[in-house]
Amino acid sequence: MKLYRKLKVFIALCVLTVHADFPCAPRQYNESVVCVCNATYCDTVSRVVPERGTYIMYTSSKTGKRFSKSFGPMQQKTCMNENHEMVLEIHPDKKYQTIEGFGGSVTDSAGINWKSLSPAAQKHLINSYCSEDGLEYSMIRVPNSSTDFSTRSYAYNEYPVNDTKLTNFTLAPEDILYKVPMIQACMKAAKVDVDVITATWAPPSWMLVKEQISGLRYLNEDYHQAYADYQCKFAELYNQQGIKIWGLSAANEPLLPFIYELKQEAQIWSTKKMAKFFKNNLGPTIRNCSVKDIRIMAADDQRFTLPTLFDDISKIDGVLDYIDGVAVHFYYDETTHPAILARLSKKHPDKFILSTEACAGYLPTDKLKVDLGSWKRAKTYIKDILENLNYNLVGWIDWNMCLDMKGGPSWVKNYVDSPIIVDAQNQEFLKQPTFYAMGHFSKFVPRNSRRIRALKLIPEQDSDLEL
Ligand SMILES: *[C@@H]1O[C@H](CO)[C@@H](O)[C@H](O)[C@H]1NC(C)=O
Ligand SMILES: *[C@@H]1O[C@H](CO)[C@@H](O)[C@H](O)[C@H]1NC(C)=O
Ligand SMILES: *[C@@H]1O[C@H](CO)[C@@H](O)[C@H](O)[C@H]1NC(C)=O
Ligand SMILES: *[C@@H]1O[C@H](CO)[C@@H](O)[C@H](O)[C@H]1NC(C)=O
Ligand SMILES: *[C@@H]1O[C@H](CO)[C@@H](O)[C@H](O)[C@H]1NC(C)=O
Ligand SMILES: *[C@@H]1O[C@H](CO)[C@@H](O)[C@H](O)[C@H]1NC(C)=O
Repeated sequence: MKLYRKLKVFIALCVLTVHADFPCAPRQYNESVVCVCNATYCDTVSRVVPERGTYIMYTSSKTGKRFSKSFGPMQQKTCMNENHEMVLEIHPDKKYQTIEGFGGSVTDSAGINWKSLSPAAQKHLINSYCSEDGLEYSMIRVPNSSTDFSTRSYAYNEYPVNDTKLTNFTLAPEDILYKVPMIQACMKAAKVDVDVITATWAPPSWMLVKEQISGLRYLNEDYHQAYADYQCKFAELYNQQGIKIWGLSAANEPLLPFIYELKQEAQIWSTKKMAKFFKNNLGPTIRNCSVKDIRIMAADDQRFTLPTLFDDISKIDGVLDYIDGVAVHFYYDETTHPAILARLSKKHPDKFILSTEACAGYLPTDKLKVDLGSWKRAKTYIKDILENLNYNLVGWIDWNMCLDMKGGPSWVKNYVDSPIIVDAQNQEFLKQPTFYAMGHFSKFVPRNSRRIRALKLIPEQDSDLEL
């Protein structure tokens, strides 16, 4: 809980531009409210520059405040707010990581839900995330081919088989109809450059060999180069659509199938093969891709996989030359101490660490996949993002930007929650507490912010979290 207070001050110190905001149109659920948007109405939030010597505090609360602004004087040593008192000692000279950004993912499902709204409501949804009246997202993750959040399974260049030259590589209807337009709309609404990152879930079937006993699928080593070319090709085709790929990983969650024996939408890699792939194929190919400056990220799996997916791989001579950063996911973070991240950045200060996937409602024990108004889930987001920032991460990217009332569509029925739930039938969308949790970071910690040292001098009692 103590961390949350720091955030308040961080936000208060932010340099903020004025116009009247449209307030949340609340709808009460069990725990807290969702803010309802439709074709004619949606809440907004602007950043205001506080007068010299004053602060502006933005508060979201369980009782229903959403980016509610309050104003007050700065004091020399103390920072007062409401009935709490807190004293922070701030060391601006002690600087840590530089922030790259915050954002969400444009999956097929996100694009399909977005397109299920009228054009006016679609615009409100995009503005809610990407514009200066919204959360000012600056990063987007887009899956290369299908994922569990698609209505079918597909890869590019499935046919002809064994086509190592990728002569038939074209984007899928899902890219053209949903993902590309949604990313383009966000890029247009955003004031900053939106970094787009990608990862492959499943390559074309002909690139895989099936292990007889387990039924698990490995990438055929004969096709390592074709697979690397596939990544470059995807970046080139998106580039033709005006979307420049900022970074990519070798594969999404490569260790997942070991844990769950997933047979679809996943591929498995031994550490050795993956290291070879980085060194001999992906690295040289991406460095030589016509789309320049694509950052290559290792891991792209849960925090607990880092020893296998980064430490082991990086021991192979020459591999580190081709790794710019490390991507981690949020699931089961509580199983591994975040100090593992600090150790990584200490040993490899030139490699950034980025959180590339997160969502609520993913646990088998989560009875409600979509839990409207859940404040608990907002707190989970906040706690994880703060922890990641305190351990040197340069950004945090959420999973599906919007899902339907069930938490899909998902062709494998892997329903989960999202900060925006689209109710196509009623032509409205609901902004969950997690949406505002994301915004307290994405809006107020812009790209190139630096984390500085701050110590809390007067502790206070835990109280119900206000953001
Ligand atoms: C929360 O509210 C929904 C509908 O508003 C209801 O179906 C659900 O049972 C409630 N859950 C709890 C835990 O009260
Ligand atoms: C849209 O939302 C506004 C504000 O909540 C409401 O007044 C209006 O009736 C809604 N429009 C429709 C068509 O539901
Ligand atoms: C190229 O791919 C499309 C599907 O994207 C497929 O219908 C077509 O048969 C493929 N062409 C060849 C020559 O395999
Ligand atoms: C494709 O390559 C595999 C070996 O990787 C081979 O068994 C198969 O016969 C080939 N298929 C065609 C149509 O060439
Ligand atoms: C997309 O996936 C294909 C095959 O799985 C891969 O070859 C290609 O490099 C990927 N593109 C990107 C930009 O990740
Ligand atoms: C780099 O790309 C060019 C053009 O695509 C190609 O001709 C060349 O062989 C590539 N070089 C390497 C080392 O892959």
